[in-house]
Amino acid sequence: MPKVRAQIDRMLRPVHQWVWGDFDRRVRKLLAFAEVEGDGGRDILRAAEVTSDPLLRRLYLEHAIDELHHADLFRQRGTALLQLRPTRSKALFNTSPLPGGHGLDDLAIEGEPDHRLLAFLHVAEKAAAGRFEIYREVVDDDPPTRAIFEEILRDEVFHMNYTYTQLTRVLPRSYRRQVWQARANRLWKRYLRVAAAVAGVLGTAILTIVYFVVLAPFAWLAARAERREPAGWRPVARGDHDSPTSQY
Ligand SMILES: [Fe+2]
Ligand SMILES: [Fe+2]
Repeated sequence: MPKVRAQIDRMLRPVHQWVWGDFDRRVRKLLAFAEVEGDGGRDILRAAEVTSDPLLRRLYLEHAIDELHHADLFRQRGTALLQLRPTRSKALFNTSPLPGGHGLDDLAIEGEPDHRLLAFLHVAEKAAAGRFEIYREVVDDDPPTRAIFEEILRDEVFHMNYTYTQLTRVLPRSYRRQVWQARANRLWKRYLRVAAAVAGVLGTAILTIVYFVVLAPFAWLAARAERREPAGWRPVARGDHDSPTSQY
């Protein structure tokens, strides 16, 4: 499965290149990563507060500090790039069609046991490490951004490894199953996101078709009926004396 994901990422490399090739998209990506890393860092900080395991508390704290530092690096670089060019790019599709690098935005802490959290983090960090490796290559023309990816990649590999080691410690008998569950869960959430996006596009397309195909004939019939109506006042038919506003 990880090999398949790596192959898919490699196949999507031209798309990554297209995304990062545009100045505006690059800035947006960096600022979006800053948000995700910052949110993830705060969630992991919360995990450090609620865990009863002293070793995990220390590791979560270290992890949270790293993620908050990544958020700072991405934000600073995004802001610096933004200041380099005040005019907006005219490129189409300013947003990226691909998901972000980390996937920590799905992280939920409250009520989650450590083994589930560790499995989730391991899978998310592994995915992040794979993505950041590609990003590092596609921003070859921008050495400061490349240096940031290099630095962050080292941290993500550490996060990926410590979460796995700790998972084997807290759940020695079924840690593999836990990792597979976390992968399946992540895949399911990705599927739901894609399905929701596709449903949104299809819904818009169907409503547009309905608007032009179904409503247009009705509008034409209404206009024709209006032309046939005599203009002005009409005499009321004999015997029809009911008030139109009466409730009786
Ligand atoms: Fe990170
Ligand atoms: Fe990380």
